[in-house]
Amino acid sequence: MSGLHEAYRLRSPSSQALHQRAEKMIPGGVSHSIRYFPPYPFYVRSARGSRIWDVDGNEYVDYWIGHLALILGHNHPVVLEAMRQQLEEGVHWGTANEGEVELAELVHRTVPCAEAVKFSNTGAEATMYAARVARGCTGRSVILKAEGGWHGFCTDLLVGVHGPFQKPESLGLPKNLDSTVGTFPFNDSEAASEAIRKEEDLAGVIVEPVLGAGGGIAADREFLQTLREETEARDALLIFDEIITGFRLALGGGQEYYRIKPDLAALGKVLGGGLPIGAVVGTREAMELTNPRRGDRGDLRVSIGGGTFSCNPLTMAAGKATVGYLEQHRETFDRLGRLGEDIRMKLANPFLDRGLMTTCTGLGSIFQLHFLKEEGVTIRNAADVYDLTDHRRREEELKLRLVNHGVYTMHGGLGVSVAHTEDDVAHLLDSADVVAEEMRRGSD
Ligand SMILES: Cc1ncc(COP(=O)(O)O)c(C=O)c1O
Repeated sequence: MSGLHEAYRLRSPSSQALHQRAEKMIPGGVSHSIRYFPPYPFYVRSARGSRIWDVDGNEYVDYWIGHLALILGHNHPVVLEAMRQQLEEGVHWGTANEGEVELAELVHRTVPCAEAVKFSNTGAEATMYAARVARGCTGRSVILKAEGGWHGFCTDLLVGVHGPFQKPESLGLPKNLDSTVGTFPFNDSEAASEAIRKEEDLAGVIVEPVLGAGGGIAADREFLQTLREETEARDALLIFDEIITGFRLALGGGQEYYRIKPDLAALGKVLGGGLPIGAVVGTREAMELTNPRRGDRGDLRVSIGGGTFSCNPLTMAAGKATVGYLEQHRETFDRLGRLGEDIRMKLANPFLDRGLMTTCTGLGSIFQLHFLKEEGVTIRNAADVYDLTDHRRREEELKLRLVNHGVYTMHGGLGVSVAHTEDDVAHLLDSADVVAEEMRRGSD
């Protein structure tokens, strides 16, 4: 890898210098760990459409597109214009405003389970609030989640994210966290049923319809249906974490795609049109518990706030522009699905042709390439990714090689946006071909 690092250093001296400065101020030089990759990340200066440019002037076709938030691509004119107009009026008021009502109405119109909506600033807040609403509704404590499920950095759900799924996910978590959060394997209906049935204190189950950070793995419909039935039987709440799949898998997210309605959903990313957002949405009955008019007594309401900057008019304007565009261009989802499918069908081929065992997971616009340890295995859940694939090769070697060829990926791929073209996809596949050849030769 040393020659590979050297090639990267040669093209990114300004990023290297910035990283050295950053490390003196910010541990690791980044504020979100996922943005670090060895030897150091490039630092971005500008972006447009499907492209980003770093401080050294290198251009990348961007498949990370703002942590998958930018479904319209970078700086889409419709979103920019909405933000420009809002800038004149103000960016943060800390008051109720028309934008929040309009965005809530838009969410209600488009997301099947969204009888009521509460906004926050991040997805992690939304999942934390969703867990609290489930606990508040049922008077019980335990939330079950899928192994490999990533629901943000909220303490409540920071269990069983990374293989082997038993160890604490972080220092600084309460010692007894696993008494309030348990796990079951993704796409294993039997194990999930058993876990749900045996948990006496079950408040809810949270699941991503497509496991994102856990491997880009689509749920089987039957698995989600099992979760729906088993939670109903236990009077517990089913929560879909749709922070990736919302407004991406379909206008109404995974719940529209799979035709399964959860009681609650956490939304984020696309909903903010590129600005910080989260939302917990769900049945009127459950969400009504968060109504401030229930009074201050903690035993009468679920206290959730949304935060100082929640519903700031700039985010509301960007969110309305983005979701409004998608509502008016429903054909977007078919097109993104076709581009994603094309990538999934072809991306592993150059590696397989050269004897490098790979497979591509994903659904709709989402794709991830995995390097398999054994031939012919199928990746169905996060344990498979951990046990059967070489994820470091994906995260480090593949990533850096693609970066050196002007392609930015995360976890071996990730997502296409409205701004991505057939030419971009062809460029990705050509770059993969070059990278596969480099890997076959074992060249630096
Ligand atoms: C599925 C899922 N849930 C929750 C989150 C947390 O969202 P945020 O980063 O906005 O806090 C993420 C972020 O990547 C996510 O992918």
